Amino acid sequence: MGCEKIHIKSFGCQMNKLDSSLVANALAEAGFSLTGEVADADAVLINTCSVREHAEQRVFSHLGHLKHIKESRPDLVVGVIGCMAQRLGAELLEHPAVDIVAGPARIPQIPQLVTDALAKHNKSLAVTERIRAKPDEAEIAALDDFEAAYDSDENNIPSQALVRVMRGCNNFCTYCVVPYVRGPEVSRPPAAIIEQIKKLASRGIKQITLLGQTVNSYSWTGGDRTYTLADLLKMASDISGIEWIRFITSHPGRFDESILDAMADLPKVCPYLHIPAQSGSDRTLKAMNRRYTAGEYLAFLDRARTIVPDIAIAGDFIVGFPGETDEDFAATVDLVRKAQYKNIFVFKYSPRPGTGAEDKLADDVPLGIKKKRNIELLEVQNEISAAYNERYPGQTLKVLVEGTSKKPHLNRAEFDDHPQLIGRTATDYIVVFNGPETLAGSFANVKLTKASPLTLFGQLA
Ligand code: 5AD
Ligand code: SF4
Repeated sequence: MGCEKIHIKSFGCQMNKLDSSLVANALAEAGFSLTGEVADADAVLINTCSVREHAEQRVFSHLGHLKHIKESRPDLVVGVIGCMAQRLGAELLEHPAVDIVAGPARIPQIPQLVTDALAKHNKSLAVTERIRAKPDEAEIAALDDFEAAYDSDENNIPSQALVRVMRGCNNFCTYCVVPYVRGPEVSRPPAAIIEQIKKLASRGIKQITLLGQTVNSYSWTGGDRTYTLADLLKMASDISGIEWIRFITSHPGRFDESILDAMADLPKVCPYLHIPAQSGSDRTLKAMNRRYTAGEYLAFLDRARTIVPDIAIAGDFIVGFPGETDEDFAATVDLVRKAQYKNIFVFKYSPRPGTGAEDKLADDVPLGIKKKRNIELLEVQNEISAAYNERYPGQTLKVLVEGTSKKPHLNRAEFDDHPQLIGRTATDYIVVFNGPETLAGSFANVKLTKASPLTLFGQLA
């Protein structure tokens, strides 16, 4: 072994993005090189998402393509990692294209699995047998060590890093596959998290995003005290070099106000919350096992805005959950109007095998109605965002520059000899402006000239 090339393709959420970058760094350290092209690769790894059927179908279509490639290149090694690997296990290993199946808890083994597969052309399965059992100390330690050894900024946006603070989920929302593929909640020790952030800061990282499936339920007990997310925010704020701190995703149940207080008191903590409501109908929320009512959710948003007046709030919604009537959907529209989100993500319900809803409730909302509700909800939010964003032209906002714009917008103005850049405000607005590429990874002040529902436009101030 030595300089074989690996291509990694990643689907899904920020957790997967982080896992992919850890795996990439571990493979690089093991002597492999990474390639952006399947055609150059000796091994292809696909990091997969199981949250909706569509995400899984895309992976199967890739596997079909790889099977075809393997007809002329039988030595090509193909590994499926992540949530689908855990969900489907041995079944996936039977796919003619697949050599390695490794679940999210087995990522530390991937360099060895790839090495073996390249040398011996064997098939291997590495998944967690009893996924809801509390992981043993050795497995937790292996994951933590892997995390600490291979975290890096290099595969992400310049100056930004993702930092996992917990794994898994215990909520069992009835539509959701996550508890069955990522296992029970386990919080990482605060000392390990803080040490990792210090290391990232010393490498020039300016913004960290703390990751957890329900990040507000972070809890770690050791010695004589329990550490919460608010404690982590305080400790991370004390690290010099770190300038912005974010955390995703929050669950509206049991959201401790100390987190909002930390946001109000600590200038480095960005005034931004991603806090999915999923529905505005109490009947649907109950069937989803969300454990709050629409009224309680809206009262929480009020409280958040009282404590952090400039807070920007984003939400997720599922349309077409089993039994969702026109009246239920109207309640969701009503909640969206009242919540005054910065933006929302809307998903059509997709039954996931093994979840409570899939097991007990018929997927009885026709696809046509799901699509119609999806469009309608986004239109309602568009109106709200358009009206809200009118306040921005004329203001100058600080952004952290991510890099050049992938989709050049029409914003030719003063700096039009420079490429279009993308930055984000502390409140997570995307800002497009012209400027030198060398600004990527730095903070810049942008004078806003124009606003659309999802994007702000401006000029370097
Ligand atoms: N069908 C559709 N959307 C889903 N989500 C989670 N599970 C499903 C499902 N089975 C959505 C939720 C969650 C987001 C990440 O994905 O809105 O917040
Ligand atoms: Fe899924 Fe609910 Fe856990 Fe989020 S909180 S990961 S939606 S079960």
